[in-house]
Amino acid sequence: MRASLFLFLSLPVFILAQIQHDGANFLSPVTVAPGLDASVIFSNLTSPRGVAIDSQQNLLVVERGVGVSAFTRVSAGWSRTVVIKNDQLTHGIQIDSSTLYVSTASEVLAYSYDPATQVASSQGSAIIANLPPDGELTTHTLQLARDNFGLATAILVGSGPKTNIDITARDPASGRSQIRSFSLLTKQPWPLNWENGVVVAYGIRNPAGFAFVPSPQVGPVDTQTLLVVENAPSIDNVTGLTAAFANDNPADEIESVTIPTIGNTTPASFGFPDCATLWNGAADPTGVPQYKDSPRGTQFSLQLPSLSTPLPRLDPWCQNTTNNHPPAFNFQAHSVPLDIKRYEPQPIGVGGGLPGEWSGDVFVSFHGSFDRTPPTGYGVVHVPYPFEPLSTSPLGYDFLVQATDLNTCPGRCIRPAGLVFGRDNRLYVTSDSSGELFVIRGSASSPSSSTG
Ligand SMILES: *[C@@H]1O[C@H](CO)[C@@H](O)[C@H](O)[C@H]1NC(C)=O
Ligand SMILES: *[C@@H]1O[C@H](CO)[C@@H](O)[C@H](O)[C@H]1NC(C)=O
Ligand SMILES: *[C@@H]1O[C@H](CO)[C@@H](O)[C@H](O)[C@H]1NC(C)=O
Repeated sequence: MRASLFLFLSLPVFILAQIQHDGANFLSPVTVAPGLDASVIFSNLTSPRGVAIDSQQNLLVVERGVGVSAFTRVSAGWSRTVVIKNDQLTHGIQIDSSTLYVSTASEVLAYSYDPATQVASSQGSAIIANLPPDGELTTHTLQLARDNFGLATAILVGSGPKTNIDITARDPASGRSQIRSFSLLTKQPWPLNWENGVVVAYGIRNPAGFAFVPSPQVGPVDTQTLLVVENAPSIDNVTGLTAAFANDNPADEIESVTIPTIGNTTPASFGFPDCATLWNGAADPTGVPQYKDSPRGTQFSLQLPSLSTPLPRLDPWCQNTTNNHPPAFNFQAHSVPLDIKRYEPQPIGVGGGLPGEWSGDVFVSFHGSFDRTPPTGYGVVHVPYPFEPLSTSPLGYDFLVQATDLNTCPGRCIRPAGLVFGRDNRLYVTSDSSGELFVIRGSASSPSSSTG
């Protein structure tokens, strides 16, 4: 550790730790579910996005335009230290003991990192090159895949569409709107090339957040189940649909992707760009009458022009699961889910954790909506898992935290982006446009809740 401590001291720019004391207000008021408490850890950050947590429980946050900063609990507050200076980082971050994986629009980079000192190598090494760098969404979400012994064996990398409705994404070779896997145990020289990644799923418009979960039923042994949150397209300009219909459709989604751990199989398509999911089929019963009696979750066609396909991809095509794997769960249109994390409560919790009965459930950040009236999203939700097809709640999920006055949003409202659970069973959340990092915890057992 001494060598890295020396490095640490020799670079004064990195040791300017800032401190923020507890008790700062949210930039704009939030409403918190009963039994929980939400508090600001740090304010005035630069577009905080993906977040990971190291073995010493330091929070590592991608601040877009800055790099990666580490947040450490100090007495009555938190300290912030810049760990990596790289203004090209966009969103993705993963940690494997002493390696940090981050993404730019075109590359996945690895930095060596010491959790004891929060010092990283000054330069990253490119491990994957030539990601599709352009288009509307240049974030590339990352997810390490591990074997049964916890060894990181592969890294999954997401890619978004070139345009809102990107017809090229029909072809998995386009590299668009899909997830590719790259072995970390490869003997190939670094960097690997995007072109050589294994497509594990495609037709997912913007695969923004990933979480491995136990497979829902007994199935083939050599597979893993990955939940993926997807942002559906805006359908305002789709022929035959109306503004009232587009205000409440299509649903945003959670896809359940089955990934082989041995060998490769033909990847499933999840429907983008041709197919979308009804949230509210009765949103415009006169303008778009054909779906008024169709239930939530029904797959429907955007009736896009067909270029190379022999037949138009109409509703029956979208409803055939050979062509289009339907979502495992649906969110209200325009919620814009950006991250998903599964809650696995740790036995060493110190109090203030989320309720134990939520063990195994998933939690999703909603960056939410730029084009819905009234607005939706701007919060963090709890989704029971395995998913309940016959949920008693009207939405099927419930908000833990949400901007109190949605009519003022986006404005200064929270716009949750990244999520991570700490070993303390608390849920840490980044909010990019409000520049905040905050924590959601259980108030019942929290020692500080009585003092406010
Ligand atoms: C954030 O920055 C604003 C503007 O400079 C300042 O007024 C505010 O006090 C800062 N917030 C915190 C918690 O430091
Ligand atoms: C729909 O078309 C209008 C006018 O061309 C354009 O301004 C708008 O951005 C389009 N919306 C989407 C979601 O593509
Ligand atoms: C679904 O599509 C597949 C492949 O095109 C086709 O073989 C099958 O007959 C279709 N199933 C139905 C019920 O139309």
